[in-house]
Amino acid sequence: MNRETLTWVGKWTFILAAAGSAVGLGNIWGFPYKAGTNGGGAFVLIYLGCILIIGLPIMISEIMLGKRYRGSPVSTMKAAAMESNNSSSWQAIGWGGLIAGIVILSFYSVLAGICLNYIFISLGLEGEIDSLAKFQEVTSSPLQLLFWHSVFIVITAWIIAAGVISGIERMVKLLMPMLFILMIVMVINAFINGNFSQALNFLFTPDFSAVTANTFLSAMGQAFFSLSLGMGAIMCYGAYMSADQDIYESSGIVAGLDTLIAMLAGLAIFPIIFAYGVEPNSGPGLVFISLLSIFADLPLGNLVGGLFFLLLSIAALSSSISLLEPSVAYLSEKNILARPIASSLLSGVAWFIGLGSLLSFNVWSELTFIGSRNFLDSMDLLANQFLLPLGGLFVAIYAGWRLNPAIAKSELGGSDFLFKLWQFFIRFVSPVLVFAVFVFQFV
Ligand code: TRP
Repeated sequence: MNRETLTWVGKWTFILAAAGSAVGLGNIWGFPYKAGTNGGGAFVLIYLGCILIIGLPIMISEIMLGKRYRGSPVSTMKAAAMESNNSSSWQAIGWGGLIAGIVILSFYSVLAGICLNYIFISLGLEGEIDSLAKFQEVTSSPLQLLFWHSVFIVITAWIIAAGVISGIERMVKLLMPMLFILMIVMVINAFINGNFSQALNFLFTPDFSAVTANTFLSAMGQAFFSLSLGMGAIMCYGAYMSADQDIYESSGIVAGLDTLIAMLAGLAIFPIIFAYGVEPNSGPGLVFISLLSIFADLPLGNLVGGLFFLLLSIAALSSSISLLEPSVAYLSEKNILARPIASSLLSGVAWFIGLGSLLSFNVWSELTFIGSRNFLDSMDLLANQFLLPLGGLFVAIYAGWRLNPAIAKSELGGSDFLFKLWQFFIRFVSPVLVFAVFVFQFV
């Protein structure tokens, strides 16, 4: 099929697809536990700042490049470099993106698999449960993890094999509104059954005494991950955007929806956490351990719980497809492989690497890879602290300093003021801040 003419049907499809990519485990599982471990309000405020002054300008750049050159991240960067007479090595950004996508997908799928498993665990709840023991039981069984990891990755590969228009488009049109409604139901539930005012206070009253340099690092990493930036996923989706769609407006809506869902997730989770006297800083297990014992106690908790994990799995699925799409797009646009074959092969690679993350919960729990980190944490570090910030940094440098500004201007449209504003941020603010935070992690 000819990509030049292949575009999303209607403005909202691009927005839903990009928002579907952005909204995922990062928002509903990651954001609450990171806000919880980083002291609440101050982290939330810094996070919002990062979305606005680092994330948004980079998102605009990724969409702009994708929309103009309409290819996978590799060929988009190559075509951009050719048109602006830059070195063709800028396509390395695209390659980094393809690799980052597969690396993230490998552990994302293991975590999403646990969410799938928890749908059924929640539905089967009867009275009291030792939720810590349950989590340990689930994660100590390689076979159980393997089963759900495989189920999740097969669904992802199947949607991507079907192609962007028929696969992703149809999927997100159904999934995203469903997700939004489920989220509202969860917040109403928290309002009725939880301690809403304490949660509001925790999330929105900043206590700067708790802020350390690490708060910034964590907030920026979270902003990148949550907006799906730094690996060309959004660039790849931008390639299917119709020519007359406004990039500023779409980016604003996508970033806004992503932020809204993260906040709603906080408002769905923290009121119940506080009502049950659970500490908000219990870390990555927050959603799986703290919430499960609460669901066990709530009226109709098994249904609310099942619904919650269903929601989480749906959000994860609309994100995981955007992790696989760039590399499948690359192989199939070059006619190296047909889409279904490329999708099976690459998801197979991610599945295989994922085995390491899966084993790090049990058999390999003592094995360390990067520093004192187990396999899953090493992959997470590699992606979130290296590949994504570097990808984002180079996209910013490229779009701000190397791409012919006339091309950027004509692709972005809009007023001169908006263009100047974007240019200022993409040249002087985003790359400088990303660089500073990136370097800081080594000192
Ligand atoms: N943004 C998704 C989340 O919040 C994860 C994700 C999907 C992602 N595609 C990405 C992260 C690309 C980084 C890059 O869960």
